[in-house]
Amino acid sequence: MSEPVRVPALATVEDCRLIELPTVPDPRGKLSIVESARQVPFEIKRFYYLYEVSAGATRGGHAHLRLHQFLIGISGSFDVRVSDGASERQVMLNRPHIGLYIPPMIWRDMSNFSSGSVCAVLASDFYDEDDYLREYDAFVAARRGAGTA
Ligand code: TYD
Repeated sequence: MSEPVRVPALATVEDCRLIELPTVPDPRGKLSIVESARQVPFEIKRFYYLYEVSAGATRGGHAHLRLHQFLIGISGSFDVRVSDGASERQVMLNRPHIGLYIPPMIWRDMSNFSSGSVCAVLASDFYDEDDYLREYDAFVAARRGAGTA
């Protein structure tokens, strides 16, 4: 069996937090703002989004070794379940001015996407498949290897 991956610090689900974004109301509509390392606790290097999610589909199903992410329910709604291997939490994202910060080494999956929903994701780094832990057991082993969980 291979050695578990070692990581410097371990977040828990308590470190996953909802962040309300500054919003500029206007009779013409609203405008919400996210700036790198200001409203979110990391430098933003990447933006991607999930849309046209198939009915009943689950996305995510992995953790990241080093990546910080911020998820926003830009349109519609979906549930995000986060787990640190010991505890889990679930939040519904359904407001365009509220996002969920997810630190590294937290398992997440997204489900119950409403029709037409859009999940925006801001990330602290470029895409790197080597940063993924896609097997739950490997994720738990990696946390144990880092000394907690
Ligand atoms: P994945 O991160 O597993 O999607 P989700 O967690 O939202 O279900 O990525 C799905 C596929 O897309 C996978 O083959 C990798 C690819 N991908 C990129 O090429 N670049 C990216 O920035 C992301 C997020 C994914």
